[in-house]
Amino acid sequence: MSRRKIVAGNWKQNGSKVFLENFMSAIKEVEDVDVVISPPFPYLEKASALSAKLGTVSVSAQNASLYSDGAFTGEVSVEMLKEVGVEFVIVGHSERRELFGESDLVVADKVSKVLASGLTPILCVGETLEQREADETIAVCSRQISSVLDVVGVDTFENVVVAYEPVWAIGTGKSATSKEAQEVHAAIRALLSDSLVGLGDKVSVLYGGSVKANNAIELFSQEDIDGALVGGASLKIEEFNEIIKAAG
Ligand code: G3P
Repeated sequence: MSRRKIVAGNWKQNGSKVFLENFMSAIKEVEDVDVVISPPFPYLEKASALSAKLGTVSVSAQNASLYSDGAFTGEVSVEMLKEVGVEFVIVGHSERRELFGESDLVVADKVSKVLASGLTPILCVGETLEQREADETIAVCSRQISSVLDVVGVDTFENVVVAYEPVWAIGTGKSATSKEAQEVHAAIRALLSDSLVGLGDKVSVLYGGSVKANNAIELFSQEDIDGALVGGASLKIEEFNEIIKAAG
């Protein structure tokens, strides 16, 4: 794969069938920008059907099971996601790491599982406020990415999309400045460009954390920011369209 512009909307635990229908029919495509929406599990099949009809967006799940069929109550497998037309899976979102105890190793294994099924993982990495204040931002992001690289290998990592989401910027209205975000994106790009990895121009690196219509242009103007993983603003269709436009 090569770097491409992606604007993905993570609805988290929000939405309804009616909301989905209205949303899908109002999305405005922009040339050279891949748009992805990630509604909760119950709406994925409908989202895929609408997407096939309207031809506007790709559909992502917000999580996937580590396992295939079996006695795993409450889990949804990558095979099931694939069957209903899902193309992407968000893996390692900080809410899953923090609230559901997903370790670096679990995240790496999930990325591996998603890749093996032919779907595209959107791997989330990012530091907490305490880690930023302790000057550990780059070390944390590097560790989170390296643990996945170790499990899936360099060749396969080419098919991963990375999303840098500083935890302190998620849902707080306090986005990283474009300079702060660019610094981390450049470090991630450098890690991926390492001579042993060689993926610097192949992997798209998105920014997430309070992306809005009013900061998207500035963020997208940064050299190493390829797009965004949007939370709250992806639930407001006009604002989401503005963000898509800003990436174009
Ligand atoms: O995955 C997207 C995300 O966590 C950012 O959320 O609401 O700050 O845009 P938000």
